[in-house]
Amino acid sequence: MNRPVMEGLRLDAPAYVKNARLIAWVAEMAALAEPDRIHWCDGSEAEYDRLCAQLVAAGTFRKLNEAKRPNSYLAWSDPSDVARVEDRTFICSEKKEDAGPTNNWTAPAEMRALLQTGENALFKGCMRGRTMYVVPFSMGPLGSPIAHIGVELSDSAYVAVNMRLMTRMGQAVIDVLGTDGDFVPCMHTVGKPLGAGEKDVSWPCNATKYIVHYPETREIWSYGSGYGGNALLGKKCFALRIASTMGRDQGWLAEHMLLLGVKGPDGKKHHVAAAFPSACGKTNFSMLIPPAGFDGWEVTTIGDDIAWIKPGADGRLYAINPEAGYFGVAPGTNDKTNANCMASLKRDVIFTNVALTDDGDVWWEGMTETPPAHLVDWQGKDWTPALAKETGAKAAHPNARFTVAATNNPVLDENWDNPAGVPIDAFIFGGRRSTTVPLVTEARDWVEGVYMAATMGSETTAAAAGAQGVVRRDPFAMLPFMGYNMSDYFAHWLALGEKLAASGAKLPKIYCVNWFRKGADGKFVWPGYGDNMRVLKWMLERVEGQAGGEENVFGISPRYEDLAWTGLDFGKEQFASVIGVDKAAWQQELKLHEELFGQLAYHLPAELTTTKAKLEQRLAA
Ligand code: GTP
Ligand code: SPV
Ligand code: MN
Repeated sequence: MNRPVMEGLRLDAPAYVKNARLIAWVAEMAALAEPDRIHWCDGSEAEYDRLCAQLVAAGTFRKLNEAKRPNSYLAWSDPSDVARVEDRTFICSEKKEDAGPTNNWTAPAEMRALLQTGENALFKGCMRGRTMYVVPFSMGPLGSPIAHIGVELSDSAYVAVNMRLMTRMGQAVIDVLGTDGDFVPCMHTVGKPLGAGEKDVSWPCNATKYIVHYPETREIWSYGSGYGGNALLGKKCFALRIASTMGRDQGWLAEHMLLLGVKGPDGKKHHVAAAFPSACGKTNFSMLIPPAGFDGWEVTTIGDDIAWIKPGADGRLYAINPEAGYFGVAPGTNDKTNANCMASLKRDVIFTNVALTDDGDVWWEGMTETPPAHLVDWQGKDWTPALAKETGAKAAHPNARFTVAATNNPVLDENWDNPAGVPIDAFIFGGRRSTTVPLVTEARDWVEGVYMAATMGSETTAAAAGAQGVVRRDPFAMLPFMGYNMSDYFAHWLALGEKLAASGAKLPKIYCVNWFRKGADGKFVWPGYGDNMRVLKWMLERVEGQAGGEENVFGISPRYEDLAWTGLDFGKEQFASVIGVDKAAWQQELKLHEELFGQLAYHLPAELTTTKAKLEQRLAA
């Protein structure tokens, strides 16, 4: 298929492309964006190597020292393009109420005029001087009945190579699409067309940004950013925002959750799904290494960021990881906190916005206790520990990330790629809170668990542009990723619980955690990371009806003697300071729940207000 799209541009589709809707759409988008050429990605290693070499030549990539970090690259983004842009993210449903009060909304027709159809539409000619890459990808195992296909059109080779690590990408996906298979169209541009002879910059992007979703027609349009979730459209845009609306319509869930397997010394295996907001510990928890004294315990990774969860015929919930790679936070990762993650990063990695060492390797804050004597920071400037002390300059951007295929993970679960998914035994919800929220509580039932998840608060992080360290409500860790009305989503969770309970199945238990309470010295009290195994073990024992606990106003918490303390010096007093429920603080906290429920009043399920009333009564007692 090589018909001309417009003067000087041919479609260049390989012979194996037989899907008429795909061909027509690519031609239509090319006519809109006017790229110089079109490249259909086959997903091969040779293509990956070629594109990486091209990115090196363009100055976007730097090849790292082959002896120290084989087959790996470093990219530095434009300083204005370093994280997701939540205020530029839109859910354009036909009705405003369907986007709900937590999303930015614009009427689809108005947004289309702005992006596509208007006289000065942003996508008109947006790819001039560039190549348009056609990136076919599968979210979920190729050809599996629970997988969904997307095709991203992008003028960024950086996006194409990242998508090869993050998803199942290439010709095999086109083969699954066949002549009439369905796909989610994902249109992406960095928004920087090149004039004739104009020299490109190393990280093209545009100050104007739009991350746009049309839930009814299942389309994604992204303009102006080349970074992470703004540009790798299979991830947050598709697998969460669009997929959450598919889940609402079809009776399943798309969640911002890691998935892990945990095997005890008795050989019994459990599966846990955990939702923590961005940069709050999902990747780390999914690769957790049990501490000394936990002989025979084994944690394996199914996913580190997103889970698609569907009820099975047996009434249990089964989850898959729709992704095939990790786009993880680099700062804070080291051999002590997460040796599995460090091992995953030994080779075949794309690093973005970390620092460069003098011998051509990478470094970030927290990687080693003593920083190298000299680095080039993520903005290409000289960096020394002395300078950092003086000015606070960071060598790596706080949202610096690595992209790596899941298959690099030494503790990848045997079922990570299983189309049937894994049965969920427990859900965990956890925010980043210096105060108030206890280390762990267990919900007494599904409704209380949904309440805990719905009212969760967390301090904002560098994963999104904007202020950091500000407590905001982040229901289900989905605030930035919901594709529809948040209250309808709560109702969807409640209805699912009811449906499962009616089938007679044992529902997963629901827990609320907080690894991040701080002491008077401003330091984290709880050691976190591998020591989170102590909490995980208690949860699984609770699932099996084996461990004790005590009721508090907010649920059931372990007493000191309910947790295993071998190998850790953590006294009763310290424990009290992370598990305690301070009544005054909780009275304040409930005011914030009240505020949230006020904001979400439209369609807010009555069960949640009832649960809140019970909580208030217990608090007042
Ligand atoms: P996204 O990819 O943005 O969704 O982030 P994530 O939820 O996967 O978070 P990740 O595991 O990458 O951790 C983010 C930051 O929190 C890193 O700097 C970690 O070192 C730090 N972190 C993770 N787990 C813990 C923990 O148990 N305790 C403490 N104190 N810090 C943690
Ligand atoms: C997050 O912000 O939750 C991420 C990174 O996982 S991004 O892919 O940029 O959304
Ligand atoms: Mn995430």
